Amino acid sequence: MSSSFLSSTASFFIVLLYLASCHVSDGAQQATYIVHMAKAQMPSTFDHHSLWYDSSLRSVSDSAEMLYTYNNAIHGFSTRLTPEEADSLMTQPGVISVQPEQQYELHTTRTPQFLGLDLHSAALFPETSAASDIVIGVLDTGVWPESKSFSDEGYGPIPSTWKGECEAGTNFTASLCNRKLVGARFFVQGYEADNGKINETVTLRSPRDEDGHGTHTASTAAGSVVEGANFLGFANGTARGIAHRARVAVYKVCWENGCVSSDILAGIDKAIDDNVNVLSISLGSKNKVTDYYKHHTTIGAFSAMEKGIFVSCAAGNSGPSPSSLSNEAPWLTTVGAGTLDRDFPALAILGNGNNYTGVSLFKGVALPAKLLPFVYAGSASNAADGKFCFLGTLIPEKVKGKIVLCDRGSGSNTILKGLVVRAAGGLGMILANTAEEDGEEATAEPHFLPTTSVGQKAGDIIRHYVLTDPNPTASILIQGTLLNIQPSPVVAAFSSRGPNSITPNILKPDFIAPGVNILAAWTGAISPTGFFFDPLRVEFNIISGTSMSCPHVSGLAALLKSVHPEWSPAAIRSALMTTAYNTYKDGKPILDIATGKPSTPFEHGAGHVSPTRAINPGLIYDLTTEDYIDFLCALNYNSSQLIILSRGNHTCDSSKTYSVADLNYPSFAVNVHGSNTYKYTRTVTNVGGAGSYSVKVTSETTAVNILVEPTVLNFKEVNEKKSYAVTFTVDLSKPSGSNSFGSIDWSDGKHVVASPVAISWT
Ligand SMILES: *[C@@H]1O[C@H](CO)[C@@H](O)[C@H](O)[C@H]1NC(C)=O
Ligand SMILES: *[C@@H]1O[C@H](CO)[C@@H](O)[C@H](O)[C@H]1NC(C)=O
Ligand SMILES: *[C@@H]1O[C@H](CO)[C@@H](O)[C@H](O)[C@H]1NC(C)=O
Ligand SMILES: *[C@@H]1O[C@H](CO)[C@@H](O)[C@H](O)[C@H]1NC(C)=O
Ligand SMILES: *[C@@H]1O[C@H](CO)[C@@H](O)[C@H](O)[C@H]1NC(C)=O
Ligand SMILES: *[C@@H]1O[C@H](CO)[C@@H](O)[C@H](O)[C@H]1NC(C)=O
Repeated sequence: MSSSFLSSTASFFIVLLYLASCHVSDGAQQATYIVHMAKAQMPSTFDHHSLWYDSSLRSVSDSAEMLYTYNNAIHGFSTRLTPEEADSLMTQPGVISVQPEQQYELHTTRTPQFLGLDLHSAALFPETSAASDIVIGVLDTGVWPESKSFSDEGYGPIPSTWKGECEAGTNFTASLCNRKLVGARFFVQGYEADNGKINETVTLRSPRDEDGHGTHTASTAAGSVVEGANFLGFANGTARGIAHRARVAVYKVCWENGCVSSDILAGIDKAIDDNVNVLSISLGSKNKVTDYYKHHTTIGAFSAMEKGIFVSCAAGNSGPSPSSLSNEAPWLTTVGAGTLDRDFPALAILGNGNNYTGVSLFKGVALPAKLLPFVYAGSASNAADGKFCFLGTLIPEKVKGKIVLCDRGSGSNTILKGLVVRAAGGLGMILANTAEEDGEEATAEPHFLPTTSVGQKAGDIIRHYVLTDPNPTASILIQGTLLNIQPSPVVAAFSSRGPNSITPNILKPDFIAPGVNILAAWTGAISPTGFFFDPLRVEFNIISGTSMSCPHVSGLAALLKSVHPEWSPAAIRSALMTTAYNTYKDGKPILDIATGKPSTPFEHGAGHVSPTRAINPGLIYDLTTEDYIDFLCALNYNSSQLIILSRGNHTCDSSKTYSVADLNYPSFAVNVHGSNTYKYTRTVTNVGGAGSYSVKVTSETTAVNILVEPTVLNFKEVNEKKSYAVTFTVDLSKPSGSNSFGSIDWSDGKHVVASPVAISWT
């Protein structure tokens, strides 16, 4: 994934990258490989699979280091090999595949209320022991166990099914875990094999989080209730995780340079063993992956799904370009990001009397209440890219005592820009988006000097003013926290979008959840600005990304699982999808901030999650492991590709015709290529009461005709299943690249079971 995977935290990681220069090469072009083994073929002469794996490895190298052996996430191991040794290992009996390791990167107070999870819904999600029996596993940068969000006051005994552990390490003792934080482990062998020993002044060899990201995601999913939580006074209120009765187990798999798949698979392997109920994975592959059997976390997540573990993943922060998704496999839940109804406005006041609203988390001495001289960075620099306020580009004589307008630019550290302005003598900064990169999405950040970030439209006007007015002046007024912002939610520009580039006939993302300016717990190891020299420490921080929306859904899955323990991961996702909303209260469609226009299922999937409705969805679209295997058969996976995911438990039947259109998914994506009719089948399971459901079909254009048969489904009892068929007839004359959207909604008068439809012409 690109460096924009995390919108506001991306900058923190960039800082860490600069400071981490401990890359050590360990011998002749060795690299880490993930080796998949056909465990069922183990010769009976071996007592244990690990002995067989070791013997297979020794047959190609005496010295190769065995990093991990896996038994839950995959059958196989990870090791360091030269390319020649890897080729040679591939020819050994029982070896299915030898894949180079992959690099991954890291992709709340008001959110419970925004999701409708306020006091009034307490009756829907009762604080039963079932809720506290759920354990959410978080694969991330570890945890800051001292945070109040992990206080176990009032929590009962640890669930008896829990088998995890609290691993001691540097500055981390096993006693730091408690009845809330029930497990903490770290996985670093793979990372160190690539990068050399970790630098313990930057990251600690322990589950302790020196970054903040993991503490933030874990507390978002299941943090305890903390009163008066705020970030420098912003967003003050009661913080609580979405499933605040649930327990948390952290699996630290990310280090200063990112995360590697050998460590991530080891984390998933252990999490399955430990008996987590939900896995929260706010990570994405750095490189575009072309197929599921090549994507290591996706493979590990298949095994988790098979064990009934709900796996929630970040959709990625590579929007707004189309087909920018990661984690798009149908056995994963893929979560995009939307805004909350909360904002942190900061006015840019211009000398011509006009004001423009931006956002800021600056907390410090305000500017004097008067207009100050104003200058465009591009006019105060000799550098070609001076307008971006990069290090060493501003001329102090032209900046001193002034407000400086800087262009935001993609991927650069905006807090650093503020430092550059301040170092050159500037008093304040207006950070303006440009058309190419950022559109209207402004990011609130804890700048070192008075700053407001404005969208592109305001940015263009302000740029015009500062360049044309003979005597430009400006000021900045930080306004604090504003609630009840409308419209909300709006799809975040950074949120990755469909179509699904691996399987265009599966719609992704599944839905959106809050992911912009989220307040949650933070590490005590580093300033929220990410700078080592900055002594500021906070208990809570506000950051954005699909990394933040993913744990919201992990928490929701835990809540639903506590009410419906028998539901499969697919049933939980179905309930969240078919009850999601995609219009505001006034009926107007949810907007996309990247365009200012209504968003489509390629941006919001089924819509924004609505947990109080998800609890009683009426009907669900269920899926079993067998259904996913049929789906893989429909993709024409050969036996060795299939076994990587299925670990030998399943095969394709050569006499059967498989179709992706038959995967019982709660949404419909049709990729038009040649034929003008496409037939899909679905089966719904009644989880409401007896009732008669009628279908309502909506199609945006006459270019698509949607026929559903039958149009009425009568249910007499719970768990009864009924099937229906959908025929899409499309106009082939539409140009390639066109899309059309619609919906297929079933209702019995009490429930509406809604499925989005997305048709794309290629
Ligand atoms: C060790 O943890 C404590 C919190 O208990 C923290 O205050 C301290 O800074 C940590 N030390 C290092 C080196 O991270
Ligand atoms: C470890 O990181 C610190 C802080 O960035 C740096 O000063 C130090 O030189 C690093 N040590 C090594 C061995 O790279
Ligand atoms: C946060 O809100 C609480 C309760 O209203 C109040 O007591 C506290 O002073 C507030 N803190 C800040 C920093 O605004
Ligand atoms: C701009 O903001 C200033 C300071 O709040 C206010 O005095 C002024 O009336 C505003 N101007 C407009 C046009 O809103
Ligand atoms: C499956 O396909 C892959 C890629 O084309 C190939 O390398 C492998 O040998 C095939 N396996 C079988 C059993 O056909
Ligand atoms: C899959 O096969 C493995 C042995 O290869 C077995 O241990 C496991 O229980 C099987 N899982 C299922 C769901 O059948």
